Amino acid sequence: MTDHAPPSSPDRTSIAEAVVSIESDGLARLESAPRLATLREIERDVLGKRSELARLHTRLGQLPSDERREVGALINAARDRLQSRADALAASFESQERRSRIEAERLDLTEFMSGPLAAPLDAIGRGRGHLNLVTETRTRLEDTFVAMGFAVAEGPEAETDWYNFEALNMPPAHPARGMWDTLYLRLDPPGTVLLRTHTSPVQIRLMESQKPPIYAVMPGRCYRRDTPDARHLPVFHQIEGLVVDRGITFGNLAGTIEAFTTSFFGPGMHSRLRPSYFPFTEPSAEFEVTCPICAGAGCRTCSGSGWIELGGCGMVDPNVFAAVGIDSETYSGFAFGFGIDRLAQVLVGLPDMRALLDNDVRFLAQF
Ligand code: DAH
Repeated sequence: MTDHAPPSSPDRTSIAEAVVSIESDGLARLESAPRLATLREIERDVLGKRSELARLHTRLGQLPSDERREVGALINAARDRLQSRADALAASFESQERRSRIEAERLDLTEFMSGPLAAPLDAIGRGRGHLNLVTETRTRLEDTFVAMGFAVAEGPEAETDWYNFEALNMPPAHPARGMWDTLYLRLDPPGTVLLRTHTSPVQIRLMESQKPPIYAVMPGRCYRRDTPDARHLPVFHQIEGLVVDRGITFGNLAGTIEAFTTSFFGPGMHSRLRPSYFPFTEPSAEFEVTCPICAGAGCRTCSGSGWIELGGCGMVDPNVFAAVGIDSETYSGFAFGFGIDRLAQVLVGLPDMRALLDNDVRFLAQF
């Protein structure tokens, strides 16, 4: 204070001194915070509505107006310094916490190979693992069809009633809907969205989105309300096939199935068709292939017949073409579909399909 300054009032001096001590005390308290949450509490104490600093403001009224402005500025400057120190400390805690969170969440993907288990697992050749049997089978199927000129397409697992049933020539209450035990999703209105019971709805999506000619296979996961047993899983896989072009005949269907069978299962393996019914094809057939276990000689797997049933097929029903706006006078086509898990089961002679879901390494490592 200079000699020229007017003498200050006792209130001014005591408030100004209080500001100094509150600031240095507040700074010390902020600096002492060990972590962000504590810092926030101290910040509230030191700078909040009920802080000592805030209470000083209410004492300003006791001062003459020129002193009030000056001391008000002192309080505000102290508050600003405290606030910016609090902000800086908070920012440093936040970046520290972010760093340690990232560190904690880091996935050490080398752990399995370099950990204590690696040596014994490597020694028996199981260190690295491989694709699941079903995935391997699906990939082999895709490769076989791609080599025959087919494209690969996919569709959603949650479907509407329209794609799973109606567009496939099954209007509401059509009795053939009973061929599939359906899991519905709890969405409004009830009964409109479901988990697809087969891959056939992808045919509809494909024909809606592209013009003929279409030559495509559509693999994917399907769901049915089935109790798991040796030959059924409620979650399983199918692969669908669809050909739409000018002049496609039943002969093309039979020839395609035969070419696939020989290409996938090997020379000497054949196919045959027997009449059947599906709402989306007319005529419809079931197709069978030479039993891959006994090569047709007859065994337990094929019940001595030398054949095993693989899936369904047929000529695309004109009502299906109508549902997607394809002119059935100009175009014709065939479709087929079969279970991938079932095929894998036959190929490796698996007595119980449920083993595919058990995740027992001793089982999985065999394939
Ligand atoms: N979608 C049938 C099923 O799940 C299989 C099937 C049969 C697909 C005939 C077809 C077909 O494309 O033409 O049992």
